[in-house]
Amino acid sequence: MDSRDPDLFPSSYATNYEDISHRGRTGIMGDSHLPILNEEEYTDDAFIVEEKPVSSIYKANVTTAGSSHSLPTTTSSASFTDQSNHRSSALKQNERQLSILDPLSDRVSTILVWKNLTVHARPSKREEFFQRVKSYKKYIPKRKCLLSNTSGAITGGLWAVMGPSGSGKSTLLNTLACRLDVNTIVEGEMRLNGAPYDNAELKRIAGYVMQDDLLNGCLTVQETLMYAAQLRLPRAFTEEQRKERVADAMADLGLSHVHNVIVGTPLKKGISGGERKRVCVGMQLLNRPQLLFLDEPTSGLDSVTALDLLRTFHALAHGKSQEKAVTIVCSIHQPQAKIFNLFDSLILLKGGGIIYQGPRKQAMEAYRIAGFPCPVTTNPADHLLDVITPPRRNPVIDTPAISLEQQAAIDEAILKAQPSFDVDLNMGVNKRLAQMANIPPSPPWHKQVRILLHRTFKEQLRQSRIIITSLVQTVVIAILIGTVYLKIGNSQKSTTFREPSLFFCAVNQGVFGALMVINSFPVERALTLRERASGTYFASAYFIAKIVAETLIQIPVPIIFSSIVYFLIGYQATVGKFFIFALFMLLCSLAATSLALMVSAICKTTDMSVTVLPLALEITRLFGGFFLAPSRLPTYFVWLDAISYIKYTFVGTALNELSGLKLTCTAEQVAQFACITTGEYYINERGYGYISIGGCIGVLLGYIIFCRIVAFLGVRFLKN
Ligand SMILES: Nc1ncnc2c1ncn2[C@@H]1O[C@H](COP(=O)(O)OP(=O)(O)OP(=O)(O)O)[C@@H](O)[C@H]1O
Ligand SMILES: [Mg+2]
Repeated sequence: MDSRDPDLFPSSYATNYEDISHRGRTGIMGDSHLPILNEEEYTDDAFIVEEKPVSSIYKANVTTAGSSHSLPTTTSSASFTDQSNHRSSALKQNERQLSILDPLSDRVSTILVWKNLTVHARPSKREEFFQRVKSYKKYIPKRKCLLSNTSGAITGGLWAVMGPSGSGKSTLLNTLACRLDVNTIVEGEMRLNGAPYDNAELKRIAGYVMQDDLLNGCLTVQETLMYAAQLRLPRAFTEEQRKERVADAMADLGLSHVHNVIVGTPLKKGISGGERKRVCVGMQLLNRPQLLFLDEPTSGLDSVTALDLLRTFHALAHGKSQEKAVTIVCSIHQPQAKIFNLFDSLILLKGGGIIYQGPRKQAMEAYRIAGFPCPVTTNPADHLLDVITPPRRNPVIDTPAISLEQQAAIDEAILKAQPSFDVDLNMGVNKRLAQMANIPPSPPWHKQVRILLHRTFKEQLRQSRIIITSLVQTVVIAILIGTVYLKIGNSQKSTTFREPSLFFCAVNQGVFGALMVINSFPVERALTLRERASGTYFASAYFIAKIVAETLIQIPVPIIFSSIVYFLIGYQATVGKFFIFALFMLLCSLAATSLALMVSAICKTTDMSVTVLPLALEITRLFGGFFLAPSRLPTYFVWLDAISYIKYTFVGTALNELSGLKLTCTAEQVAQFACITTGEYYINERGYGYISIGGCIGVLLGYIIFCRIVAFLGVRFLKN
């Protein structure tokens, strides 16, 4: 298409859009009334403010000299191949070693290259299955293209990924960081220092701050960072060094004044949104990653804080405070000019394709060549996006709109104005050995369990309101049940109360705990997935810590319940029988929480979990052995009966209470032959004797272990 076609470019766009190729390629400046910003006018000298003092997070080995942005931009990071090698070979050796923008520099430890990368989103497996059933052979899977055939390389320095909303910034970051949704298909090649990589490798050397921050709301800022330091810093670190690192991180990110404030939950206000973001960044910076992905770290921050944060990133990316610089890739929306000028390189995305990539300074040049020089009064970042984003027609103020063809021609012109680009997948292969050798081991499994146990206890105790409420509830319900069946005694009449009261106790303990877990676990699970994705701990360490802490916190509830109920109702007054009753209440309560844990680990979301759990609970109640005595159970329901933990609790407590029970009769009852003197009669009559008390305890323990193993597998393998 001829970009000079007057039909394609309305007169109102003449300033920038007219005669792209002619004006662009001849380098003619814009209209005289609209001054054009010269590259040098908005670059470093004009905007880059004094470097922040050496980031204390990284203050270790300050050896390098010179600021790389003052070095000539000798290497185009857009032309990463032989071509760049030729060009950079013109540099003096030491200059090259110092330049963070030179991929060959020793200070750049990580080079990420991707070639012909295409990402598609497919419907979820369930949706695809129904569609396939509905349209049988005619079904063609619908795939949405999120990234289309992109190639590129991220070398050293601070990189910005820019583009309109929905252009694929997060998708590109997630793809490169191996954090994509399971319903996506990735084609193409990605290499880290010349070798294919996966999430396991990446999480040892890289950090990722996602667009939406997920944190534990009950902990304070300092505690959050301290737990992250304990879990993520190498095992050789002492407690003092960890504390120091946390204090430095808080100072660097301006969080010291809120160190004692809780992060906050939707119900309990904590730190501000910007501070939350900075806590997330701090957690990732603690262990000094070699590569850092940040998805919109500045959204929600005021301009001063955003600039401050970006200056910290700039200092880190330029290795001001350590020998090796961190490569930072940061997606960002409409940065102010001062922030924009801190970036070394740029990837500009539109509709899942890369419109520009390379040094920031050369982006303006490419636009100028394409015929879109940046007006002096315009923020260069805004200009980059304005040109590639077609304005929408506004019927009220009659703004002009440009057609799709016109916009395509503009995009094409910008692409053509860039140097040719050929990606070398082997780039950085010589850095690989050194990179992998530098990774110190993280804390061992048992230490992770200890730290997580401590953290879970702290979280639970911070939610003391819930614990106190559940204790009060237990006492109230125990007194109610106890007084309803108060002192049932040993008469013949007592038999009509004994079994219902035992069943009611089993149902109460078998439902209560489940409801608490089902609401809290799916939320916690999302945070855990995020923490595990960044290599903070093993899934097994988390799970063991969780169930140990929760079991210990759960134990008092059934004990208190049993102590009140047992004596108010007046079951057999034997120490051994009381302890067996209390043990059954405890096992029933643990079985309930284990079932809820399993359901929510498999269902993943709260919505789905609260839909499925009531059905499971209803079945366990219906087949609880009371409504349908084991002796009268139809054979086709045996399997449902077998999975009801309430049944084993009820039968176990019934065996405990009825065995050895002596019942009294009135003379009248004896005369009428309606006198039953032992509890064993009822055991035989109802068929409870098919299993022993020990058998019931064994089945309940097996049930708890089975549910927890399935829950663990769900937590370990079902990821979103
Ligand atoms: N898993 C997915 N399934 C379907 N569509 C998706 C998926 N992930 C992303 N998309 C779509 O891909 C496009 C790009 O999404 P992405 O989140 O990468 O945009 P973005 O540039 O980060 O936008 P923003 O600036 O608003 O964060 C959007 O249209 C989004 O709806
Ligand atoms: Mg995004």
